[in-house]
Amino acid sequence: MKGSLLYEGKAKRVYHTTDNSDRLILAYKDDATAFNGKKKDEFTGKGRLNNLITSKVFEYLHQQNITTHFIEALNDKEQLVNQTTIIPLEVVVRNKAAGSITRRLGIQEKTSFIPPIIELFYKKDELDDPLINDIHAYYLTDITEQELTFIKQQALAINEHLKNLFRSAGLELIDFKLEFGRLPDGTIVLSDEISPDTCRLWDIETGKKMDKDVFREDIGSLIDTYEMILQRLEENVCAK
Ligand code: TMP
Ligand code: ASP
Repeated sequence: MKGSLLYEGKAKRVYHTTDNSDRLILAYKDDATAFNGKKKDEFTGKGRLNNLITSKVFEYLHQQNITTHFIEALNDKEQLVNQTTIIPLEVVVRNKAAGSITRRLGIQEKTSFIPPIIELFYKKDELDDPLINDIHAYYLTDITEQELTFIKQQALAINEHLKNLFRSAGLELIDFKLEFGRLPDGTIVLSDEISPDTCRLWDIETGKKMDKDVFREDIGSLIDTYEMILQRLEENVCAK
């Protein structure tokens, strides 16, 4: 059963469970934010869509032998997860240039990165999540060199699985952000969410942006776009 509120983030609320202290409930909100909360809106139905999309994606990753914090979707807006202590890093994998890397390094949008580029950002709202290097990560978090190597290997393996999954839904995976957490025994597992909020997805046929960029850039309906992603994943993942 849902217990007390543990933490509220921009997109989710985290609750204790009353029956098992190692498990948490994530409740997805309808809020959308961009540019570290500087742009804000609310879209009825967004929480449901991101909860159901993330659940599908994590179930698929489990089938590919990637361990995550995810246990099950409880209802439209909530999912049960194993409690982890989040490592304050945003691990971004980029297959093609878009977003901040185009502005930061003057790289033209759509430029391919082979092999993919991995970037680390320090998860700290007050600092606007700055880009950091590996040595900063050892200083700012409790991860070891060996653990960071593991996280990067996981991120690249997850990239291959997600590219396949989204390709089967007619979508090209441009980039995405992952967060990892520690289980009580210290093991590092994939945590947080994987949704159109945290990935860039372009329609393979039309090149159309089908992710949170529709909100960031005001170029379409967020709900219609996310609904389409869920529908395509349901049609394709279930068929496997
Ligand atoms: P960026 O181009 O803004 O650095 O974003 C790279 C990817 O990471 C993109 O798929 C969106 C995702 N992302 C998040 O999930 N959370 C964030 O706070 C940011 C900045 C990006
Ligand atoms: N997630 C960040 C925010 O909520 C940034 C972004 O996704 O653009 O502001």
